[in-house]
Amino acid sequence: MTTLVTGATGHTGRHVVAGLKAAGVPTSVLVRDPVKAPDGVDVVHGDITEPDAGGVDAVYLLWPFFTADGIEKAVKPFEGKKIVYLSAMSAEAGGVWGDVEAAVRRVTDDWTFLRVTGLATNALAWAPQAATGVVRAAYGQAKRSVVHERDVADMAVKALTGDHAGQVYLVTGPEAVAQAEQVRLIGEALGRPVTWEEQPPEEAVAQLGATLGADFAAGAVNYWASLVDDPEPVSLDVPRVTGHPARPFAEWAREHFN
Ligand SMILES: NC(=O)c1ccc[n+]([C@@H]2O[C@H](COP(=O)([O-])OP(=O)(O)OC[C@H]3O[C@@H](n4cnc5c(N)ncnc54)[C@H](OP(=O)(O)O)[C@@H]3O)[C@@H](O)[C@H]2O)c1
Repeated sequence: MTTLVTGATGHTGRHVVAGLKAAGVPTSVLVRDPVKAPDGVDVVHGDITEPDAGGVDAVYLLWPFFTADGIEKAVKPFEGKKIVYLSAMSAEAGGVWGDVEAAVRRVTDDWTFLRVTGLATNALAWAPQAATGVVRAAYGQAKRSVVHERDVADMAVKALTGDHAGQVYLVTGPEAVAQAEQVRLIGEALGRPVTWEEQPPEEAVAQLGATLGADFAAGAVNYWASLVDDPEPVSLDVPRVTGHPARPFAEWAREHFN
């Protein structure tokens, strides 16, 4: 049984590859640039929008785009195979993640959805500001149950190597941590204080809109506003499925900021 990992050069995918190798699972990776491929696995050179699924029985699927345009063509080669898809809690409400889940369901019954609230790696976007000692962003009191990419990967490896067909897992960290507290913990990891400076929401939308698009940026900032009084949920699916507690944000910060 060969498992194909998409996004193998990315944050979660590289740990999925390591976990599959450690479990002795024959693994191949779909990469755009073979030079960046991890060592010790078969390399399939290609694009996620036109994957070559030859000889593959299972796939760890990422869809790193803001629309689901092209998803039907991308999942067609995995018809009847096992698909473990890195999704989002918001898939419940539709959007790109909901559309991708629907497309996956149409090609196979052997699917598992790993719905994250947010990835801790989002905080890497604060790195340049953290280096100056002040992070200016919106809604410091938005409480997010962001998850360590290793926990996502551990879930993926369990799903790829066991029977988790038809399971929708909510994949979160062990607690909801205010964004300002995340920044403080980054400072602790760096060994010098980093403080939060509240940014007006309109300014945040304009700034994020430049890279994410205006609609997506507005949606994200409105969502953070809602998390001030209504924190993201904390799920027990990581400990239940992996057998170990979800890694706290402080641990993630120590690994990435030092
Ligand atoms: N951030 C969040 O809070 C959040 C929440 C919910 C869901 N998600 C999902 O998580 C995903 C990110 O996962 P991640 O952090 O593991 O990945 P990542 O670190 O963002 O890396 C993206 C990966 O996708 C690959 N890739 C991009 N475009 C590609 C293409 N056209 N063909 C083939 N490969 C391509 C990149 O390869 P290269 O090395 O070639 O660039 C890289 O390996 C998002 O796309 C989103 O769907 C994120």
